[in-house]
Amino acid sequence: MALLEARNLTKYFGGLAAVNRVDITVNAGEIVGLIGPNGAGKTTCFNLLSGFLPPTAGSITFNGEALVGLKPHHIVKRGLVRTFQLTTLFLDMTVLTNVLLGLHLSSQRGFGRVLLSLRSFPREEITRTHEVLEFTGLAPYADELAKNLPHGRQRTLGIAMALAARPLLLLLDEPVTGMNLDESQQVMNLVKTIRDRGTTVLLVEHNMKAVMGTCERIVVLNFGEKLTEGTPSEVGSNRAVIEAYLGSGGEHA
Ligand SMILES: Nc1ncnc2c1ncn2[C@@H]1O[C@H](COP(=O)(O)OP(=O)(O)OP(=O)(O)O)[C@@H](O)[C@H]1O
Ligand SMILES: [Mg+2]
Repeated sequence: MALLEARNLTKYFGGLAAVNRVDITVNAGEIVGLIGPNGAGKTTCFNLLSGFLPPTAGSITFNGEALVGLKPHHIVKRGLVRTFQLTTLFLDMTVLTNVLLGLHLSSQRGFGRVLLSLRSFPREEITRTHEVLEFTGLAPYADELAKNLPHGRQRTLGIAMALAARPLLLLLDEPVTGMNLDESQQVMNLVKTIRDRGTTVLLVEHNMKAVMGTCERIVVLNFGEKLTEGTPSEVGSNRAVIEAYLGSGGEHA
């Protein structure tokens, strides 16, 4: 069953079609890759799906409900949660507090009020936070300030914050960027475990080894348009895809 169905998704910035008539379907239980050269429109797609930007045209149906026009926190409440290409942590707060705040991404309370009432979090929220810290391997760092974590762990903390909100669909924007081989392997294993525990995943990533080894299906964007989609081996041997990447000069974000 389609969990997410975006049809004719289009976003213009002035005269530039950053996303142009793109259809994306994600079925429940899948890990789907969204790839393409720098500037292809991947992050813009995430911004549209998560309500951070209004589409110029197109429809988005998630879990049977239309999303266009809903505010980001209402979309989070429905179970669609995204991470950010650039890490957006509360750097001067502890790892534990960051995850607690992630849990409240879906709450009606403003961040200010959440911060004021840190000491009065309900027991079940503290329990949920510890579960997420265990699951993501961050438990030993619970009391560290986020700014003191190495880069790889900071990226994982971004995922932990998103997980705290109990997503049905998790949008990951370049989760392994800047990581060494070991770190990226750990994060991709985490992504598989997240899916195995019932969260569907849409993954943007430039690291082809990570994408090919993790995704069942891959959608390729180029200049805002869908170039092709298919299994990793279909996409990996597609001449147009290879040319798009060669044409981009192999640059990474
Ligand atoms: N808020 C904005 N205003 C104007 N132009 C934008 C905005 N956001 C993105 N763009 C442009 O839209 C196009 C697509 O950008 P986007 O960030 O979606 O690409 P991307 O596929 O995520 O690239 P990367 O792999 O480098 O992260 C680019 O040409 C970019 O400069
Ligand atoms: Mg991007």
